Amino acid sequence: MENSIINGDCINVMKKFDESSIACCITDPPYNYEFIGRKWDNEEIQRRINRIHESKTLVKNIPYGSGLAGGVRNKRWYERNYNNNQEYMLWCEKWGNELFRICKSGAPIAIFNSTRTVAHVQVALEKAGFYTRDILVYRRHSGIPKGLNIKRKLEKIGYPNANQWEGWHSCFRNEWEAILLTQKPLRNNYWGTLQETGVGLFKTINDDGSFQSNIFEGYSNKSEETFEHCTVKPISLIKKLIKILVPKNKSNIIIDPFAGSGTTLVAAKELGYKYIGIEIESSYIKIIESRLKQNTYLTNSTKNLQNSLITKVAT
Ligand SMILES: C[S@@+](CC[C@H](N)C(=O)[O-])C[C@H]1O[C@@H](n2cnc3c(N)ncnc32)[C@H](O)[C@@H]1O
Repeated sequence: MENSIINGDCINVMKKFDESSIACCITDPPYNYEFIGRKWDNEEIQRRINRIHESKTLVKNIPYGSGLAGGVRNKRWYERNYNNNQEYMLWCEKWGNELFRICKSGAPIAIFNSTRTVAHVQVALEKAGFYTRDILVYRRHSGIPKGLNIKRKLEKIGYPNANQWEGWHSCFRNEWEAILLTQKPLRNNYWGTLQETGVGLFKTINDDGSFQSNIFEGYSNKSEETFEHCTVKPISLIKKLIKILVPKNKSNIIIDPFAGSGTTLVAAKELGYKYIGIEIESSYIKIIESRLKQNTYLTNSTKNLQNSLITKVAT
């Protein structure tokens, strides 16, 4: 199973894995922005992919399904929103249950989510048996908020005193994403768990001697290659998380059940860890494979270069 990418629904796929076989999970499941009135299944994923292909809209930035850009907020809307959250939580609990079974005691689970919905994931994962350790802040820069600018709206409908509402909007500029950090309960204590399962503690002293805080900033994916996937995370951030969460040890496997374009898997591979990725959308599997291959190619060419240099120096 290790170093493989599996196409399928992670809830079914994880059922086939051995109990207590995974050392760490770093993942980025779909956020709950567009759950409303829609089933989170293959058909829905396909609909969103087509939407991305058809327009320049990034699903990540415009929660069109939720009408967050300023639609009607009546009782029915709030009820649907509430039901949608409940549905999302049940879904998170389902995959959380499977993940819990396959993780070793002490295994850290880092889950990216939005500031608005991370609490739902947290409660669901706790219901599945995990213990919450922290909510890490992934600080990133963002553009102008897409919410309602009331002055502009009033001007459009010819309201006489629109200026009086200058500077009033429906939301903040969102500058951070949450990384929920949970853990499968320890066996009695940290040291005992570390000896038995190889995980449980965090490497909190950085290379420069500083103590790592729970705010992560300065990571960007701007300089990295872009893929046909709308929510690619910075590989440098994922590498940092791996280094903090998992001791490098031959038997430690990192899983990403919502692999997307495969950032976690590529980061794990580049750092020399074993990995398993699951992705429901088959077209993303090709992206993952090509990213992993590219990495192999680079590694091989680097090795070849090194070998030729060694040969040159030796002759
Ligand atoms: C937010 S993206 C992950 C992006 C990833 N962090 C990256 O850097 O490329 C979430 C992914 O989960 C996949 N997904 C959604 N439901 C799934 C399921 N039940 N099982 C496996 N994958 C699923 C989606 O197709 C999507 O590619």
